[in-house]
Amino acid sequence: MLYLEAIENPVFRKIGEIADKNKVRAFVIGGFVRDYFLCRPCKDIDIVVDGDGIKLANEVGKALSTKVTVFKTFGTAMLRHKGMEIEFVGARKESYDFTSRNPQVERGTIEDDQLRRDFTINALAISINKENFGELSDPFSGVSDLDNLIIRTPCDPDITFSDDPLRMIRAVRFATQLGFYIDEKSFEAIERNKERIKIVSKERIITEINKIMCSDVPSIGFELFDKTGLLDIIFPEMTALKGTQIRKGKGHKDNFIHTLKVLDNIAKSSDNLWLRWAALLHDIGKPRTKAFDDTHGWTFHGHEVVGSKMVPGIFRELKLPMNEKMKYVQKLVFLHLRPIILSEDIVTDSAVRRLLFDAGDDIDDLMLLCEADITSGIDSKVKRYLKNFAIVRQKLKEIEEKDRIRNFQPPVTGEMIMERYGIGPSKEVGIIKERIKNAILDGEIENDYDQAIELMEKIAGEIYLEEKN
Ligand code: CTP
Repeated sequence: MLYLEAIENPVFRKIGEIADKNKVRAFVIGGFVRDYFLCRPCKDIDIVVDGDGIKLANEVGKALSTKVTVFKTFGTAMLRHKGMEIEFVGARKESYDFTSRNPQVERGTIEDDQLRRDFTINALAISINKENFGELSDPFSGVSDLDNLIIRTPCDPDITFSDDPLRMIRAVRFATQLGFYIDEKSFEAIERNKERIKIVSKERIITEINKIMCSDVPSIGFELFDKTGLLDIIFPEMTALKGTQIRKGKGHKDNFIHTLKVLDNIAKSSDNLWLRWAALLHDIGKPRTKAFDDTHGWTFHGHEVVGSKMVPGIFRELKLPMNEKMKYVQKLVFLHLRPIILSEDIVTDSAVRRLLFDAGDDIDDLMLLCEADITSGIDSKVKRYLKNFAIVRQKLKEIEEKDRIRNFQPPVTGEMIMERYGIGPSKEVGIIKERIKNAILDGEIENDYDQAIELMEKIAGEIYLEEKN
């Protein structure tokens, strides 16, 4: 059977013609072919030749009048054409080295190359030479694994994973992204080889973890990390969330299971990767704050504070960006209990104003996170929370329309105070600013310049500041 539809783009004929001229066999291989069978869009094309991949790339580049980028150390070359990224590689024997800066790999046939790829579903190749244009090469039953939703290595999994231990993480990533199952032998090999993940760079690992985070049901990935034993090596703070403890008949929920539910919940309502990270980390401070007393049972007081303080360390360790994304996650972890506390009480205007002030533009994301955080098994409890949340949301809307607190800047600045009273930066400036801010948030005065000035003068009098002339 020929798969002409997969390679109907004229660029494949063109590359095939040039390969024919060079008398080399050429195939489109890997993710592109897999995604064709899965009906997923794919713009990255990998071409493998049993010959010199860089030479073929250069000739194709000339024919298409496009620039070719050569990665000499990897023995690959890449060009862009009509929104597609096309990568060329010569078929290799022995270890398919995706990591080494100095890949001393022997040339091999296409079949050798397929054998040393990560998974059977990624080893599918379609010929683009004229003679057998569109013919599928599937030596390891990749199509059948696609049908049966199986992630399996083409050769002995111990070899596949020791060639490149990142593939253990990739197995979990594909299982999550595609909703597939890791074949038993491959799974057991991950358990055996898990320590080898330590030799892989953190940057490569986090790229895969972020793909898991962006999946429809990201919890699958973390459950698999846990079951294979990888989690404790790559993300020990998450394993610390696991388990329950019972003392004097009182237990607490398993925070690992709860966290994963919150993550899946948020994945249903938002594609924002960083909001998903906030969900994953929202209770990360719980193990460190866990305590027991006879009156309250288990408590996790201040876990939002401890958790938010842990965020920079975790981001640094995992090689996530140490920029405003980290600050955003930190802020959401810090604030994640606020809407719920608010909704348990009578929702006062001043509490809502304070929440708006502290959350700023991230208020909507914070509300999504809090709704996702309601994972109780008891229906009536969930209903009550969601109802109270609706009230909080309504109040937030009303107050925002009325007072515009979201990006609130107090109408009297520190400079204005210093100018008026002829003083430098000092405790007094802070006192006045803080009291004006609180008065506005508590609704004692409006968010208005004249009222703020009036209050400023009153406070200045109280603390014996004299106006400069
Ligand atoms: N590959 C491999 N081992 C790796 C990485 C990649 O064998 N550690 C092979 C696989 O055949 C894979 C191909 O190289 O299909 C391309 O890799 P990559 O672009 O990283 O992944 P894709 O499979 O294309 O998947 P995605 O586009 O979802 O990242």
